[in-house]
Amino acid sequence: MDLPDYRYDPEAYELEEKSRPDEMMMIGEAAAEATRLLDAFPNAYGLDLCCGTGLSTECLVEHPNVVAVAAVDNCKQYLTFAQRKFKSEGDRIKFILSDAVDVSDVDLGRRDWDVIMLSSAYHHIEDSRKVAFLSRVRGLLGKDGRAVMAENVLPIYLEGDEASYHGAVETFYQEVLRTARNQNPNLSRHVETLIERVAQYGYDGDYEYKVCMPILSQHLTDANLEVSWKKRVWPKGLELEEDSGNFVFTLKSIAAEDKLS
Ligand SMILES: C[S@@+](CC[C@H](N)C(=O)[O-])C[C@H]1O[C@@H](n2cnc3c(N)ncnc32)[C@H](O)[C@@H]1O
Repeated sequence: MDLPDYRYDPEAYELEEKSRPDEMMMIGEAAAEATRLLDAFPNAYGLDLCCGTGLSTECLVEHPNVVAVAAVDNCKQYLTFAQRKFKSEGDRIKFILSDAVDVSDVDLGRRDWDVIMLSSAYHHIEDSRKVAFLSRVRGLLGKDGRAVMAENVLPIYLEGDEASYHGAVETFYQEVLRTARNQNPNLSRHVETLIERVAQYGYDGDYEYKVCMPILSQHLTDANLEVSWKKRVWPKGLELEEDSGNFVFTLKSIAAEDKLS
């Protein structure tokens, strides 16, 4: 089937996201957690990696303790859209068109960040670069810095077994669609196909590289990050198995004091 695409279309991306209660609950909880963290950081610096159209950047920009924000994405169309959204902020926010794994300190403008947003970021990084990405995040955390990770976590599948992985993607998105239709019985066919497009990317292992909890946990350990707070935001019950669904994690560096000054 020919599915509409949102990959370079910021309006279509926001339509898809805003039609999905599972995503909006996750972004909302990540924003609430970032706000809680920022409340304790006077003169904070906020970084949003894979910022997209800026849905996850808002909480940084809006917090009165935040001095400056940097937002990184490798999609020019999304960045331009976000730039327009936050135009009134002037120099307080810097947009950087870059790969989120390789982005340099020079481009970012500083080395240490107090709150780093990773909202649907990790699952957009290819599996082979996920640990490098998380290690880069660790390196960017300031002394008491925290990363807020919002992630879609698949049901358990057998690593390396394509059929098992496909089954996990299908189960996850059946529940996503069921939740969206429950909230909006008049969900348009267009929006449904945008959501199916996300699922198809995951299924094809192109642009979307979601994993299950044991793999995510191992990647965090390998990157010397630990979870200091965690909440399963969706689904509310056992419609998906316990360790899958949409989660928000607060991450801190293991042995942060070891970071070279
Ligand atoms: C699902 S969107 C999340 C956007 C935003 N954080 C949010 O919560 O709405 C994922 C974003 O990651 C970006 N992206 C994918 N791979 C990237 C990479 N290697 N470096 C930087 N951005 C990347 C995409 O362009 C897209 O904007």
